Amino acid sequence: MGHGIAHAAIAGGYETRMYDVADAAVKKGRAAIEAIAKKGVELGTVTTADAEAMLKRLTATSDLGEALADTDFVIEAAPEKIDLKLALMGEIDRLAPAHAIVATNTSALSITEMAGATRTPSRVAGMHFFNPVHRMRLIEIVRALESSPDTLQAIDEVSRQMGKDTVVVRESPGFITTRVNASIGNEAFYMLMEGVATPRDIDKALKLGLNHPMGPFELGDLVGLDTRLRILEYLHRSMGEKYRPCPLLVQYVKAGRLGRKVGRGVYEY
Ligand SMILES: NC(=O)c1ccc[n+]([C@@H]2O[C@H](COP(=O)([O-])OP(=O)(O)OC[C@H]3O[C@@H](n4cnc5c(N)ncnc54)[C@H](O)[C@@H]3O)[C@@H](O)[C@H]2O)c1
Repeated sequence: MGHGIAHAAIAGGYETRMYDVADAAVKKGRAAIEAIAKKGVELGTVTTADAEAMLKRLTATSDLGEALADTDFVIEAAPEKIDLKLALMGEIDRLAPAHAIVATNTSALSITEMAGATRTPSRVAGMHFFNPVHRMRLIEIVRALESSPDTLQAIDEVSRQMGKDTVVVRESPGFITTRVNASIGNEAFYMLMEGVATPRDIDKALKLGLNHPMGPFELGDLVGLDTRLRILEYLHRSMGEKYRPCPLLVQYVKAGRLGRKVGRGVYEY
């Protein structure tokens, strides 16, 4: 996600510093950004000159102090582990200018808790991108307990400058998209378990009848059924019975049918 976000930032005209912990990861991130730019030129969505100018706006570094010096806006996209994020927030608080907005791309962790690791929680909020960032237009702006209106406004402006559209959501499990998507996927599994229809017909019905670009099983296999199960367990823990994972989904995961990444999920690949 980090390289996708850095790409969106340079494409939006921002001088951008991309940070990762190790030099190898920094190199990998830069190569991924160059590949997106190259593809854009091949497809004719950007000119060669624009792609070159865009890449000049990117500095990649494994030095956090260098990355954060004089910055106005920080987007955190480190691994989804709360201890790691809390430590990183403390470092950002220490090394970035006091006025800088601090946005986090977390999918599910508490942004209020992360904001609490800084001295000015009002400048922290969620900025939830979608994968792959260069193709997905939405950003969910997530208001934590103490996020200020100015912080939300700044995130909205940056999102639009990156060519994205936004929705604002109060911090709550799964925000909008993850909560609805997990529910649809779970319901599809209940229908399969009850023998209501075949997976192909359930997918077809949602695609042709409801205009979803992918069926719930196609999408579940792509995301990973283990990931899907973890999200549902989290929603179930935090919001109750409505989100109890379907027993058939639990069985698929136990059987190692995790989706495309292992060659079999609901479908065989
Ligand atoms: N993958 C998705 O589809 C998706 C979508 C939306 C949001 N997110 C969120 O984005 C964040 C990153 O997810 P990802 O899938 O890109 O993870 P990832 O594991 O692919 O990448 C995380 C990167 O962070 C680096 N890193 C490790 N420790 C770090 C530290 N202390 N400081 C800075 N960087 C560090 C790693 O080297 C790695 O390059 C998570 O919070 C995740 O929930 C992911």
